[in-house]
Amino acid sequence: MNAARTALVTGANQGLGRALAAGLASGMSPADRVLLAGRRPEAVDAAAAELTAAAPGGARIEPCVLDVRDAESIDALAARLGAVDIVFSNAAARMSPDVDPADQVDAVAETNNLATTRILRAFAPRLRPGGRLMVVASALGTLDKLDDRARPRFAAAAATTLDAVDDLVTDWRAAVHAGHAVAQGYGTWLNIPSKVAQVAAVRALALQRRRTDLARGTLIAALCPGLIDTAASRPWFADMSPAQTPAEAAAWPVQLALGPTAPEALATYYGELVQFGMVIPWGTGIPVPR
Ligand SMILES: NC(=O)c1ccc[n+]([C@@H]2O[C@H](COP(=O)([O-])OP(=O)(O)OC[C@H]3O[C@@H](n4cnc5c(N)ncnc54)[C@H](OP(=O)(O)O)[C@@H]3O)[C@@H](O)[C@H]2O)c1
Repeated sequence: MNAARTALVTGANQGLGRALAAGLASGMSPADRVLLAGRRPEAVDAAAAELTAAAPGGARIEPCVLDVRDAESIDALAARLGAVDIVFSNAAARMSPDVDPADQVDAVAETNNLATTRILRAFAPRLRPGGRLMVVASALGTLDKLDDRARPRFAAAAATTLDAVDDLVTDWRAAVHAGHAVAQGYGTWLNIPSKVAQVAAVRALALQRRRTDLARGTLIAALCPGLIDTAASRPWFADMSPAQTPAEAAAWPVQLALGPTAPEALATYYGELVQFGMVIPWGTGIPVPR
């Protein structure tokens, strides 16, 4: 008999994270648990209660207060859990096209990037054999989305270490504050360097862990969920008609987390940006709506 499993989803009180938690819980057994994590206690309590009432019979859904901008809390949760089977690093700071990037970059860099590298460091060594550690990134997370001047810096960091990725994020953040982001090739839309840095972090960690993880059937990857109708995406797109519901967008990542995956597919996905069962090339990406 398999041991009871533990799954963790960050930023899970709404949007895609909530749908990932719901999908995991319904695909796991009552002996398992899904930690529905978020920064606001009342929001995680409410979401966990609602999902449990809506779909009893699956895994236990446990509310888990975790502000991912608090690095020590990430480490403390990892130590408390000891070992985990599935982690979705999904939390993200919202951005608005109507707010100065300098007023948003701290939240974005700390939530989407520095927290992601902290989660990778804290949880990758705690994955049980067959585990999954997946960073929810985006189709914006490939090198082609960057200016020619910024692209080599992100490529170099991805080929080095998580520390190198953090240093680059710190440099980008400082450039935004100093008003030099455009001159240094980082552009004005925070989501692009942020998402490229998330994928760079996965690639950097994968360089160190690939052989060991694949021998244990373990997957670390970045995911591109596609356009989803959430309060985070609505301000950026005039036409949301092609958008998926959160439940639709969560379906294949949940399948990747829970379903059997052939060793060849694991090796293909490992360390890459994956969407709908396909690897999105790091260098050339896919076109995205502007
Ligand atoms: N929506 C899309 O079209 C789309 C497309 C591609 C990729 N993605 C990615 O998918 C992921 C989820 O996006 P979404 O659209 O579901 O966003 P969302 O609705 O804004 O949900 C984001 C979640 O992150 C949480 N969060 C924010 N800061 C946090 C912090 N410091 N600590 C812990 N949790 C925090 C939020 O909690 P609060 O409720 O407390 O704010 C919320 O639960 C993100 O990584 C996003 O970049 C989305």
